[in-house]
Amino acid sequence: MSRKILVTSALPYANGPIHLGHLVEYIQTDIWVRFQKLQGNEVYYFCADDTHGTPIMIAARNRGISPEELVNQIRKEHFEDLTSFQVEFDNFYSTNTPENRALSEEIYLKAKEKGHIHRKTLNQLYCNHDDMFLPDRFVRGTCPKCGAEDQYGDSCEVCSSTYRPEDLIDSRCSICGTPPVEKESEHIFFQLEDFQAFLEEWLKTPNRVDEGIRKKMYEWIDQGLRHWDISRDGPYFGFAIPGEKNKFFYVWLDAPIGYMASSLNFFRKTGKDDLFDAFWRSEENEVYHFIGKDIVYFHTLFWPALLNAGDFRTPTSVFVHGFLTVNGEKMSKSRGTFVRASTYLKHMDPECLRYFYATRLGPALDDLDLNTEDFVHRYNSDVVGNIANLFSRLVSGIASKLEFKLSSALSTEGQTLFSEVASKKETVKEFYENRQYARAIREIQSLSDSVNRFITEKEPWKQIKSDKEAARQTVTDAINAGMLLALYLKPVLPVLAGGVEELLALESPLRFDADLEPLPGNHEIRAYRHLAGRIEPKAFAEMFEEEKLAAEGSAAIGGKANKAAGQSGKAKSGEKSSNVPGKKEKQKASDMSDQSATKQQDSEGSTEGIITIDDLAKVDLRVGLILSADIIEGADRLLQIKLDVGEAEPRNVIAGIRSGYTPEELKDLKVVCVTNLKPRKMKFGTSEAMLLATGKDESLTLFVPHRNAKPGDKLG
Ligand code: MSP
Ligand code: ZN
Repeated sequence: MSRKILVTSALPYANGPIHLGHLVEYIQTDIWVRFQKLQGNEVYYFCADDTHGTPIMIAARNRGISPEELVNQIRKEHFEDLTSFQVEFDNFYSTNTPENRALSEEIYLKAKEKGHIHRKTLNQLYCNHDDMFLPDRFVRGTCPKCGAEDQYGDSCEVCSSTYRPEDLIDSRCSICGTPPVEKESEHIFFQLEDFQAFLEEWLKTPNRVDEGIRKKMYEWIDQGLRHWDISRDGPYFGFAIPGEKNKFFYVWLDAPIGYMASSLNFFRKTGKDDLFDAFWRSEENEVYHFIGKDIVYFHTLFWPALLNAGDFRTPTSVFVHGFLTVNGEKMSKSRGTFVRASTYLKHMDPECLRYFYATRLGPALDDLDLNTEDFVHRYNSDVVGNIANLFSRLVSGIASKLEFKLSSALSTEGQTLFSEVASKKETVKEFYENRQYARAIREIQSLSDSVNRFITEKEPWKQIKSDKEAARQTVTDAINAGMLLALYLKPVLPVLAGGVEELLALESPLRFDADLEPLPGNHEIRAYRHLAGRIEPKAFAEMFEEEKLAAEGSAAIGGKANKAAGQSGKAKSGEKSSNVPGKKEKQKASDMSDQSATKQQDSEGSTEGIITIDDLAKVDLRVGLILSADIIEGADRLLQIKLDVGEAEPRNVIAGIRSGYTPEELKDLKVVCVTNLKPRKMKFGTSEAMLLATGKDESLTLFVPHRNAKPGDKLG
């Protein structure tokens, strides 16, 4: 009987582009989903964009658009990127939707009714200028332990100590630079503690989580489960909490509920309404979450507890994967290894990445290293050299001279070869089922070696000259075995497998739940068409170079202020699961929020995409004349500039260009600037325009008009 399976990947934050790290997860999940579908199971794959929270609100504000506009735009980009990598969702929805609001309220109200909610007054840092409470990640200052400047409100990146934001020296709001004040506010808490026995019981069921994770969870439980702060004061982009004034659900409350909302939306629009209850209110079907190791706490403690409070079922299993490194190091913007999906696509075929990840993925939560040499070598030798080459030399070299007609049946040796490959079907299936993709690939490659050996021994390129029918037989035998390889690879390489189906003129697509039969006698196949191409050795270098330039560009233009606003914090992802604390006195109840703010910063960088001429017209680019430039005491990257942009008064500009220019050089220089950017209030004053520049450090370069141009002249 076929199983009913609901699968999710974690919902990407709507404040940054999809990058190769994310793709570890989406590709891992997609391979599993495709495999389950090819087995004839009824599988649904749901995802959505995670849209709420302070960083997204601020990012939208910085761009002068509404958070709704921002999340719609980013959702579209995310969906396009993921689809390009053949990640095939049944629904890619959003957490900012009516379904999600209704479900979040339902779960919260149930929890409240059952007595799992209480309130408590907290002291928190508040910015009087921005009129908001500041998440720890939005406070910067000097580390109280080691004195390093410009550190986050919760931890120091230099000495790694953690502290309370109140303890930072010279702290300031990272949005506007104003020193924050302490202010009281009432928060709403979910009593996780009430669910201790339930969670222990939940963990006893086999296969809920990997063994390592189970241990970690018992540790957390033993340390005592802390109440979870689920409210945030406005302004906050999120759902208002029913019955409260100016309080919103903390993003991590409604984010996982987004899995349910995505499914509800899909089931309703496809007329399968009953499936919602069949998956979420009953244990008869299977529910799986694929997540990264940084968000385990949320998915294995809060989430099952919330579901239980809301009278919903809990997941069958949570599958946790490790983090991506590139050539042994953490992905890095400045090294160019923080590769966005959209950049990758300009340089390489998406299936190369799918294949490489599959060769590295297993059920454990080890980190996964993208070693670029291995990547190129593995794909070129396995996929191009072994698999694609098998078909290309048989079909374009030989079958083409035989009217593409196969023999009437397999030879005895051909039958042996076919059976050898077919006999591994159950093994390969088991590997996929258990997410042991690396082992599946090894098995498939060893089978493909057998097929290639068969061809090499038969030498059909010689046979074709002396004995056409012998050559036809070799092609028939080898191509039938090759067909099975295409099936085995299909969850990983759907496009390549589709190409083989096309080439072999199959009546119906390859599936795991069909008996493996050879092609019919005298079958006619099609002319060879490209299945896979070699990766150029320089592809990665060029990709990294492009990212490096992009990072330098945005650093020169955006500078520090942008970073402080939460758009390009340093990724700390890999370490986070171990950072999640238990009950520590000194830790405030809002710790979990800080952790997620950290997370929100991990999706570094801003969104890129195609803009229209109208979008471009929004940017007011003008010629400016630098009247004076002065050093700012205490800011070694900044210069204070008076800029004539053709208005009655010169504008005040604070530009991060001191590394490339002395004040003397700048005086009387004509430059290009953006004049309609929202003025940015910084520690040293307000900046009222932005100078266009490229490069960094000494090679930072301003753009200057080539010929005569007057201050205030509009570009375009
Ligand atoms: N929005 C939350 C998830 C909410 S789920 C209810 C989030 N978003 S994220 O965009 O930061 O990450 C999405 C997924 O991608 C997470 O599972 C995360 O672990 C994974 N990865 C993000 N960067 C990664 C790597 N560098 N390597 C591997 N996986 C990575 O967390
Ligand atoms: Zn502020």
